[in-house]
Amino acid sequence: MCGIVGYVGAKPALEVVLEGLRRLEYRGYDSAGVALVAGDALFTEKRAGKLAKLDKALSAGTPPAATTGIGHTRWATHGAPNDRNAHPHLGAGGRVAVVHNGIIENFSALRAELESAGQELRSETDTEVAAHLIEAEIDKGADLTTAMRQVCRRLDGAFTLVATTCDDHDQVVAARRNSPLVVGLGEGENFVASDVAAFIEHTREAMELAQDQVVTITGEQVLVTDFAGNPSEGKRFHVDWDIAAAEKSGYDYFMLKEIAEQPQAIADTLLGRFTDDGRLHLDEIRLSDEELRGIDKIIVIACGTAFHAGLLAKYVIEHWTRIPCEVELASEFRYRDPIVDRDTMVIAISQSGETMDTLMALRHAREQRAKVLAISNTNGSTIPRESDAVLYTRAGPEIAVASTKAFLTQIVACHLIALYLAQVRGLKYGDEITAILRQLERIPSAVAEVLGTVEPVRQLARELGDVETVLFLGRHVGYPVALEGALKLKELAYMHAEGFAAGELKHGPIALIEEGVPVFVIVPPKGRGVLHDKMVSNIAEIRARGARTIVLAEQGDEAVAPYADELIALPAVPTLLQPLVATVPLQVFSCEMATVRGHDVDQPRNLAKSVTVE
Ligand code: G6P
Repeated sequence: MCGIVGYVGAKPALEVVLEGLRRLEYRGYDSAGVALVAGDALFTEKRAGKLAKLDKALSAGTPPAATTGIGHTRWATHGAPNDRNAHPHLGAGGRVAVVHNGIIENFSALRAELESAGQELRSETDTEVAAHLIEAEIDKGADLTTAMRQVCRRLDGAFTLVATTCDDHDQVVAARRNSPLVVGLGEGENFVASDVAAFIEHTREAMELAQDQVVTITGEQVLVTDFAGNPSEGKRFHVDWDIAAAEKSGYDYFMLKEIAEQPQAIADTLLGRFTDDGRLHLDEIRLSDEELRGIDKIIVIACGTAFHAGLLAKYVIEHWTRIPCEVELASEFRYRDPIVDRDTMVIAISQSGETMDTLMALRHAREQRAKVLAISNTNGSTIPRESDAVLYTRAGPEIAVASTKAFLTQIVACHLIALYLAQVRGLKYGDEITAILRQLERIPSAVAEVLGTVEPVRQLARELGDVETVLFLGRHVGYPVALEGALKLKELAYMHAEGFAAGELKHGPIALIEEGVPVFVIVPPKGRGVLHDKMVSNIAEIRARGARTIVLAEQGDEAVAPYADELIALPAVPTLLQPLVATVPLQVFSCEMATVRGHDVDQPRNLAKSVTVE
């Protein structure tokens, strides 16, 4: 949610900043803007809409040469997404430029204070308040870093702020609380950004900042302090993916590329996770086996697609560990006073590791002494950093707003954690775990097989481009898959889509069925007896009422054929693993549907990849 970049070095800052913004645009695309330090003045350009609009405005003018600059791509919170509210924002005298990600919760009081002192604010944003305050501190004699610290101490809420000033040409200062910020460490140049993707083509050496830290970068130096001015240190890390991972590599959309990468992402997530005696390697663990044995309840918290991975986690965890497992939307968990204590394990699932609701839920759980285990795709992000243990999915950077490869790897991670807990608690032995792992290891090729047979699904999307409603039905682990299928279609194709538990059909959803309504049905493997047979009856029921049935069923499932208008064959896999293959055709369908309807697949309207505000 909002991408921010800052650069100081010897290269043309405009090019570096714009390229960084291009790679961060997935974080928000309501407006974009840059500020350059040019001589004794600041040059700014900003435009509502996608980065292309800013590019066009810059090409029409003559931006000055500069080697220090900052930039922003916005997902609007305070103030409409127009030119005026676009970042950067300037201080009263136009000598400080600021970009911001997050929400300054006490901005109204601060704004009133500035206005009563006679300052005129030009936008409706909370950010402009910070720009005015920082410049006011500089007017009183502070340098930019000190001014930033003083202002940060007065701010409530979540923020990453990046500022530069024409009073000192060669520095950018950034600060963070609750929002992401990484530093890129180059040779004679340094960067700050929301995400390493912004500077990966220049350097793979990076530093993550902790809560309430301020960093000052020049071409030669990186200085970290806390908000009080005490010397502090960031945590250095090496980015182990290369620039190709952040490029479309010949695909029309990142989403298509990421769908195609799923077999590899799953294989990477499984790689070397278990030792020969069946022990799982968690990436970071600060929990003893004794603590894990003492857990009497698990609560999974997450948002969006990650929540659907959480719903699936319940089936797996309870099946293998017999520990009661609840699954809850992070935003609900936090505000309902949940029963959590030192014997509760909370599993926080988040691709980005930055989702604000998940982060706040995690903190709430830790305050009550619960143990928190994070599943995340982003090394060193806030959620894993604040958790007691972490299992990283290894999906590589996911750029498309709609999550695909991260989802499948989250499911895999849930399986690994369930198996590990089962082993620690003596419910599964090394050889049993090895047998289940062998099944998991066959999943990448099963997903690849599905990807090889999805052309009819694309054809179907082209045929159904004009329909208004699509429904999804599932039972058992097929139910979260149905929810995910519907979410994808809403996100990408902006259409009415709903997922239902098939058992609930006769309690309401069946009233939505009329002639020609497409209904995707996820059928459990044939070997599931009653579960399978009940689903076949459900297909017959909706078809009798006119539904167009699109049935996802195991290869060779003869029982469903008479009721399927369309049959999508899935490779035979154990029931608990079926979501890993059944989700794939639904992803492809949504992606194609969005294309058919003329929408931007990677940047759906109103959405952002990581929701770093509540
Ligand atoms: C946003 C994204 C979704 C994602 C959700 C949770 O809504 O558009 O694709 O599933 O956030 O994100 P997280 O990074 O916490 O997994």
